[in-house]
Amino acid sequence: MILVTGASGTLGRPLTRLLAEAGADVHGLSRRTRAPEDGVTWHKGDLRTGEGLDAALAGAETVVHCASEPLRMKRDLPAARLLIDAARRQGAPHLIYISIVGVDKIPYRYYMTKYAVERLIEGSGLPYTILRTTQFHTLPYMALDAVTKVPGVIALPKGLRDQPIDVGEVAERLAELALAGGPARRVDDMGGPEVLTAEEMARAYLKARGLRRPVRVPLPLPGRAGRGFREGHHLAPGHAVGRRTWQEFLDERHPRP
Ligand SMILES: NC(=O)c1ccc[n+]([C@@H]2O[C@H](COP(=O)([O-])OP(=O)(O)OC[C@H]3O[C@@H](n4cnc5c(N)ncnc54)[C@H](OP(=O)(O)O)[C@@H]3O)[C@@H](O)[C@H]2O)c1
Repeated sequence: MILVTGASGTLGRPLTRLLAEAGADVHGLSRRTRAPEDGVTWHKGDLRTGEGLDAALAGAETVVHCASEPLRMKRDLPAARLLIDAARRQGAPHLIYISIVGVDKIPYRYYMTKYAVERLIEGSGLPYTILRTTQFHTLPYMALDAVTKVPGVIALPKGLRDQPIDVGEVAERLAELALAGGPARRVDDMGGPEVLTAEEMARAYLKARGLRRPVRVPLPLPGRAGRGFREGHHLAPGHAVGRRTWQEFLDERHPRP
């Protein structure tokens, strides 16, 4: 039995589908009451309060922890504590955590929290596996969607690059780690197939959407976190194992007539 936290999220959805297709007994945690679905048994629970965690974890051999609140990032650390405590009470399952490349090098708040969660898991005494990946395609896509809602020039940070990866490929890797069974501690980072500048990504995005907008890169990201991103600590060019490119992702979202 495999429990996926954040099973309703961008990553959780393809992950639970792959696990169910592989014949696993897949359980998902959500704050909402959800109707049973093909291959997924849902548990209502909240990592903020601890509600429902023991029941969701009962009988789990593996937990894939994908739940997160990036906009209320401080909550992720106490949430991980509650999850670990419940896991200890429920037979110490293998805990798999999805993290981000560069969390130990870039002092950006969300990354600092994710790194603290990594360390908590490493010191938990539970069998664990941690996978760090670069940004999913959906993240820069959402950011570009937001900036193009405002009319006029699109201003992007100077010197910012990204190595976006397909969320389905990340789900495949997590499913492989979950189904293989054994804890593997920190596994190799996983990056998308190519490193692109923010400007290249924005131009491809605009073209895919048929939009004509001027793009400028006036200023670098400020501060120490900005420097970490400029220096590319969030990239994994030595682990460019992803297959699907940014252009392929855009073509699928915006098929040409
Ligand atoms: N996006 C990226 O580029 C990227 C890159 C590398 C790693 N990651 C990591 O991948 C993980 C998943 O990201 P995602 O993009 O799939 O996130 P997402 O779409 O925002 O989904 C977040 C999930 O967390 C659950 N959740 C939030 N607060 C909760 C709480 N208090 N109790 C229980 N569940 C809670 C939500 O479930 P309900 O609403 O159903 O309760 C939701 O399914 C995160 O840890 C993220 O840091 C993301």
